[in-house]
Amino acid sequence: MERIYLDNNATTPPIPAAAEAVARALGAWGNPSSPHASGRRARALLSGAREAVAALLGAPPAEVFFTSGGTEADNLAVAGGARAAVAAGAARRVVTTAVEHPAVEEACALLAEEGFEVVRVGVDGEGLLDPGALARAAAPDTALVACILAQNETGAVFPVAEAFAAVRSRAPLARLHVDAVQAFGKVPFTPAGLGADTVAVSAHKIHGPKGIGALWCRAGRRPLPFARGGSQEGGVRTGTENVPGAAGFGAAAAAALAEAAARRERLARVGAILEEGLLSLPGARRNGPPAASRLPGTLNVSFDGVRGDLLLLALDDAGIEVSTGSACASGAAVPSRILTAMGLPPERARGAVRFSAGALTGEAEAAAAVAVAASVLARLRDSLSPPSGA
Ligand SMILES: Cc1ncc(COP(=O)(O)O)c(C=O)c1O
Repeated sequence: MERIYLDNNATTPPIPAAAEAVARALGAWGNPSSPHASGRRARALLSGAREAVAALLGAPPAEVFFTSGGTEADNLAVAGGARAAVAAGAARRVVTTAVEHPAVEEACALLAEEGFEVVRVGVDGEGLLDPGALARAAAPDTALVACILAQNETGAVFPVAEAFAAVRSRAPLARLHVDAVQAFGKVPFTPAGLGADTVAVSAHKIHGPKGIGALWCRAGRRPLPFARGGSQEGGVRTGTENVPGAAGFGAAAAAALAEAAARRERLARVGAILEEGLLSLPGARRNGPPAASRLPGTLNVSFDGVRGDLLLLALDDAGIEVSTGSACASGAAVPSRILTAMGLPPERARGAVRFSAGALTGEAEAAAAVAVAASVLARLRDSLSPPSGA
């Protein structure tokens, strides 16, 4: 049975070019800081990778710093950015949204433990953000404002440029951070166009390797680093660089840039097949905004009366790989924090299943997944309904 992978927001399969770049770079084992030939070979790979990631971002390579992934980039920008702003005279106050990825949410929680006031701006019933709400929550001395660009569970794309323009005029000291991990390569943006100071991205969401990401930092707006040591990555993220990871990231970014338009068009077609097919199944409800305000290829859906965790397992048995937004704690499905923030009732949130296509998902695969989901759902419902006469 050919399995169909529709969990690309969790991670994506690496493209062959990325895997080959990793393997080649393992052979260029020199330390990029060493001046001799082996070091220069590794440094050349690192520079090439930085250029490719910067090109996909639409930013100068000198402003791109490699990290161990999106989580580290977010943590660094949020905690290190807020601390840098305080050192420059801002108050211990940060503003973010109620629907951030844990990489940002938990970094804000860390700041709260240090005595920062954290304001979380809510979203509407479709998971969309009012761009004015972030600015209204910011005070003139706010240290940091962090906003996700494309929400990982619902795919909702936020009007960050509009929001940040309003924030900037109200809170001039604030560091403005964007978690663009899900948007990178799927939604056209540039850090400058967003009006951001820092932007976090990750390789494994764009068909590159895991354990490598990057933080873009506007010149003069670098966060305070967590680790102290050498001066690698401009001191923003010290430690001998992950050259194979960076090389794989560079190859994935180069392919994403070369194929950007074709990928977006295909993802939109695949997304339309999923949306049309899945939302026409009995009792289906979309969790999130309409396609025009969503990441192409991401669909979060609940089916009345069916638990998401059970549906996930049944789909997995039938060869379809998706995810739920719910964590499983002591055997009970805990409704997703994101869907709860949208005001969804617990039953509907517990029913949520996320289908997320990627650059390698074909239209036939999407159509096959819909057909399998229809029969799995009918079977699950049969098994859940009480026997007749009971
Ligand atoms: C929106 C968002 N931010 C941050 C991350 C963390 O990235 P990484 O897995 O590279 O640490 C993820 C990964 O799921 C994500 O979806």
